[in-house]
Amino acid sequence: MERVYNFAAGPAALPLPALEKAQREMLCYGETGMSVMEMSHRSGMYLEIYRRTEALVREVMDVPEDYAVLFLHGGATEQFSAIPLNLLPEGGSCDAIDSGNFAHGAIAEAQKYGNVRVVASSREDNYTHIPDWNEADFDPQAAYFYITTNNTIFGTRYTKLPETGVVPLVADASSNILSEVMDIRKFGVLFAGAQKNIGPAGMALVIVRKDLLGRTRKSAPKLFNWAKQAEADSMINTPPTYTIYMAGLCLEWVKEQGGVAAMQKVNEEKAKLLYDFLDESRLFHGTADKRDRSLMNVTFVTGNPDTDAAFVKAAAANGLVNLKGHRLVGGIRASIYNAMPLAGVQKLVAFMKEFEAHV
Ligand SMILES: Cc1ncc(COP(=O)(O)O)c(C=O)c1O
Repeated sequence: MERVYNFAAGPAALPLPALEKAQREMLCYGETGMSVMEMSHRSGMYLEIYRRTEALVREVMDVPEDYAVLFLHGGATEQFSAIPLNLLPEGGSCDAIDSGNFAHGAIAEAQKYGNVRVVASSREDNYTHIPDWNEADFDPQAAYFYITTNNTIFGTRYTKLPETGVVPLVADASSNILSEVMDIRKFGVLFAGAQKNIGPAGMALVIVRKDLLGRTRKSAPKLFNWAKQAEADSMINTPPTYTIYMAGLCLEWVKEQGGVAAMQKVNEEKAKLLYDFLDESRLFHGTADKRDRSLMNVTFVTGNPDTDAAFVKAAAANGLVNLKGHRLVGGIRASIYNAMPLAGVQKLVAFMKEFEAHV
């Protein structure tokens, strides 16, 4: 069967050249006579893969030396717990913006460990926009300030960051990491689940400023302890070896495309194509406020759930799959991460036009 255009929100489409390279190396990596999956994580060959992947993260994202790069199990959600355990002292307080369901979940998790002040929220507007904030409301004594840079379910993203001064900004960039240029120096911690723009599922990439290491609660599980993980090259126990290897192949691909700035250019072109059509369509309508539209997750509806479902079904029959919106909001969502080529979005828009003409 031919490969389809996969618009899934995550796990999501991966760059074909990365998959092909993995296929070539599947049974025998280099001169080892074995698959990467079969290698000891302590072996010289694997450590080379690990170090190359870390170096690629640093190069492609321009990560300064005073930041640690960690590859940790448990996806982004595990970091919802690890963040307060590493940064929020007993009896301490942090600030957060509630811009979507994943932000909400991270806030609820942090509330188990201390006081979380929600300084702005768009929950009452069903998260159709990034809430406005007033920097005067921010607590200058907060242990950290938490945001989600792109809201996967609702299709919104921050186009500017809150100015938090000396308070470290901690950001979940699961669904837009590597898709647009981000200045790491603006963040205390930037983290992301891997299964969108980094590689396969099964880990989180955590980039943390080194002066924030060592604040971990004594009661924290050792695998959650960023300082200990940084000392151990993320190998307190066996790391997700194959996922790290695949992330390296995907990062190599990003580098070959010209890096994150080049990815951003293509991503802007892809998103514009889709949003321009949504703005002129008589059938399909975008659900996110124009100001905050995501480059990665484009959410839209026809206004009739049966028509939405019929569209998703007809699109799938034409090789455009996984367009169903998240179960919380329904409708349609096209996730157009780095690995989705412009041709995939062109085909989607052409199909939407055709569908519209027949409804
Ligand atoms: C913005 C965001 N944060 C967190 C998560 C949860 O990620 P994981 O499943 O890796 O825990 C997701 C998953 O889609 C997400 O989109």
